[in-house]
Amino acid sequence: MKKLGLHEVKKEFLDFFKEKDHLVEKSFSLVPKNDKSLLLINAGMAPLKPYFTGEVEPPRRRMATCQKCVRTGDIENVGKTDRHATFFEMLGNFSFGDYFKEEAIEFAWEFMTERLEVPKDKIWVTIFEDDDESFKIWNEKIGIEDKKIVRLGKEDNFWELEVGPCGPCSEIYIDRGEKHGCGKETCKPGCECDRYVEVWNLVFSQFDKDENGNYNNLTNKNIDTGMGLERMAAVLEGADNIFEVGEIKKVISEVERTTGISYGKDKKTDESIRVVTDHIRAMTFLISDGVLPSNEGRGYVLRRLIRRAARHGKLLGIEGAFLSELSSFIIKLWSEDYPELRENEVKIKKVIKVEEEKFQETIDQGINILDAYIKETKEKGEVVLSGDKAFKLYDTYGFPLDLTREILEEKNLKVDENEFNIEMEEQRNRARKAREGVGNGAWSKDDFSHRFKSFNTTFRGYEDIKLSSEVLGIFLEDEKVSKISEGEEGIILLNETPFYGEGGGQVGDTGTIKGDNFEALVLDTKKTKDNVIFHFVKVLSGEIEDGKEAVSQVDISRRNDIARNHSATHLLHKALKDVLGDHVNQAGSIVLPNRLRFDFTHFEGINENDLAKIEQIVNEKILEQLEVSTIETTLEEAKKMGATALFDEKYGGKVRVVKMDDYSMELCGGTHIDNTGKIGLFKILSESGIASGVRRIEAITGRAVYGYLLETEGQIDCVSKVLKTNRKDVVEKAKDLTEELKEKEKEIESYKGKMASSLADEIINEKRVINGINVVTYSVQNMDMNELRNLGDEVKNSLESGIIVLASVSDDKVSFVTMVTKDLVDSGYHAGKIIKEVSAVTGGKGGGRPDMAQAGGKDPKKVNEALELVDKLI
Ligand code: SER
Repeated sequence: MKKLGLHEVKKEFLDFFKEKDHLVEKSFSLVPKNDKSLLLINAGMAPLKPYFTGEVEPPRRRMATCQKCVRTGDIENVGKTDRHATFFEMLGNFSFGDYFKEEAIEFAWEFMTERLEVPKDKIWVTIFEDDDESFKIWNEKIGIEDKKIVRLGKEDNFWELEVGPCGPCSEIYIDRGEKHGCGKETCKPGCECDRYVEVWNLVFSQFDKDENGNYNNLTNKNIDTGMGLERMAAVLEGADNIFEVGEIKKVISEVERTTGISYGKDKKTDESIRVVTDHIRAMTFLISDGVLPSNEGRGYVLRRLIRRAARHGKLLGIEGAFLSELSSFIIKLWSEDYPELRENEVKIKKVIKVEEEKFQETIDQGINILDAYIKETKEKGEVVLSGDKAFKLYDTYGFPLDLTREILEEKNLKVDENEFNIEMEEQRNRARKAREGVGNGAWSKDDFSHRFKSFNTTFRGYEDIKLSSEVLGIFLEDEKVSKISEGEEGIILLNETPFYGEGGGQVGDTGTIKGDNFEALVLDTKKTKDNVIFHFVKVLSGEIEDGKEAVSQVDISRRNDIARNHSATHLLHKALKDVLGDHVNQAGSIVLPNRLRFDFTHFEGINENDLAKIEQIVNEKILEQLEVSTIETTLEEAKKMGATALFDEKYGGKVRVVKMDDYSMELCGGTHIDNTGKIGLFKILSESGIASGVRRIEAITGRAVYGYLLETEGQIDCVSKVLKTNRKDVVEKAKDLTEELKEKEKEIESYKGKMASSLADEIINEKRVINGINVVTYSVQNMDMNELRNLGDEVKNSLESGIIVLASVSDDKVSFVTMVTKDLVDSGYHAGKIIKEVSAVTGGKGGGRPDMAQAGGKDPKKVNEALELVDKLI
């Protein structure tokens, strides 16, 4: 066997298949394109699906790749064993309707035995149980003896994803020798032990599985093979497992260096070191490919990886954030194969840092609470933590369920996941309701729009805003009718229309439709998924009849406002990328006549400077008067041109590219102004976070900025008038006034002090002697407890010995303070006891220390009665 490391196996494989006429392509992004069935690329074939199904013509019928892959189905086992990993690279050779079983097997054999020089006797294979054809090839052509060809069932030897290309497969195993085995008679590929390692999977991909689980025959018979790079390198290097492979070992060493803990010494710390070693690779590659942490989908996968790694870092004794530094090491080791890592280095480190720090903040808090829950659960003698507690941890402290689950497992406890899911669902419902309350203006009656399926309407609104066409259909309250009359509101379909139907975030047009004997207002325009455009109209006069001619006219000034906002949205998108980085991507957009709203991916709030810069760039691009043009082309062509493709556009078919000179280029079906100068001006009104990793900017253009300007000016004028100055001096004047106000407050404070001492003098004058004790009672108006206590202190200071009871009366309540000097406390007088009885007269309660006590009362009318009680008490 040749001794080859990761990079060398990769090179050997790709070179081999290049010689065999394969087109060698770079790894595709981990983020699937145009494939909603998959969260992350998890196999070499995944990004090539359209070539397998025949949907898209491949650049060549033979291809080979080394594909980055992430699989998180087994994430909980990563670390626990030395076999599981989330990130790996997969080598693969593919045939799209070109060669099939025979050549695929021959190529594999040649590569294994001649290139990698794996001894022939060490190779075993498995085949799908009734695949006699494969048996024959392995047995007769290649010469593998019968007993080394193991037939296995669908579970092992039929390869498929949820949906998509799939088929029976044949797997190649390497026998690592008896010393790795279980020693059983029956031991062979498929056995649980470590003797036979599966290194290569050859899939005879001839079906296309649909959503209903049907296996439809593919026109082409294809080959999809997958070789786990790390595993193959482990075998060739003679390493025990993937964590012992040279390159991965380097990462382990780096983790050892960072934590000061050696690998291979302790089961628990080994587990944590493996978690960090695996996850750091996965997160670095994911962020490099544009994934940002969030609470959903692939963003959540990433968040989970970062948090899990951070937590195991903590278990290894690391204080604070360390993953961001560690990612540099990954970038260093892998950037030769994946130059994008270097390009995205700043972003990768920043995203990890922000997320890790955010997590550090919550984790300490969350762990304390979880510890308390664990204690409580154990004390009750239970083994299951209730779902609502786990939900509370999640909801309030951002503590993911899986983390709770893992920590609980370490303490032999479980969590009630059912209950957790119910809580989660309820929260979703609440959120949904809240959203519905606001209304999103989207056309939601899907079944209704299905009725329009048979209609064919053409949108002419890019060129014309007024045109004559034929009424194709009329609907009144869901019913198809032949006419609608004055006063009625309904839906009209035309064979051609200048009205833009709401879509791509842009609202629908409004305007008028007129005919020989009718006139109607178009209140809104929408379109169905199949691009049938329908108009909500109100008939102002006459009758609209099916089949009649109608002249449609779009409200041009409103359309222009919308176009200004739409074009500004494109400039904003690009400016955001310029200032914040290429990870910024559209996450949602609303284009209205009076404003625009743009949601995008970014991991933290935008500071004032950057926001100002973004606004400035957009305005510069407006002033540069860039020409706006549109090009119709294919998606592939558009991507080649460098257009930003926002959503999962379908392969094939025509797409529309909106280009603003050399500055911005996006796929877009919306209506735009023809020169950025026509936007007028652009003003950002707000920037905020709407979900983890998603920010929102609201902004205005054109006449709305003018309106904003007038309003702001009006406010400044108004302020100037109130401050009795001119606009020029308004800021100075406001500053002066604030200063003056502060001075005055100080003065007032000092007067209050003076007044309090003269009031104290007045109170002392009320002093009387009862039983040889100085007694002072007094009632003031509208003092708060603080002021009342200060007053009491003043009186007490001037009175060497005595008992003071003060009351303050406001509209509906009374406050009391009682003070007793030290000598009298010593002889048994107690402020708390006195006040208790005194305040009770006014319906209040209170008490306190022997020398000072305070209380509240309810009935102001009884204050005098209450104070009179003091003398009697003493
Ligand atoms: N799709 C198969 C796998 O992932 C072969 O590439 O194993």
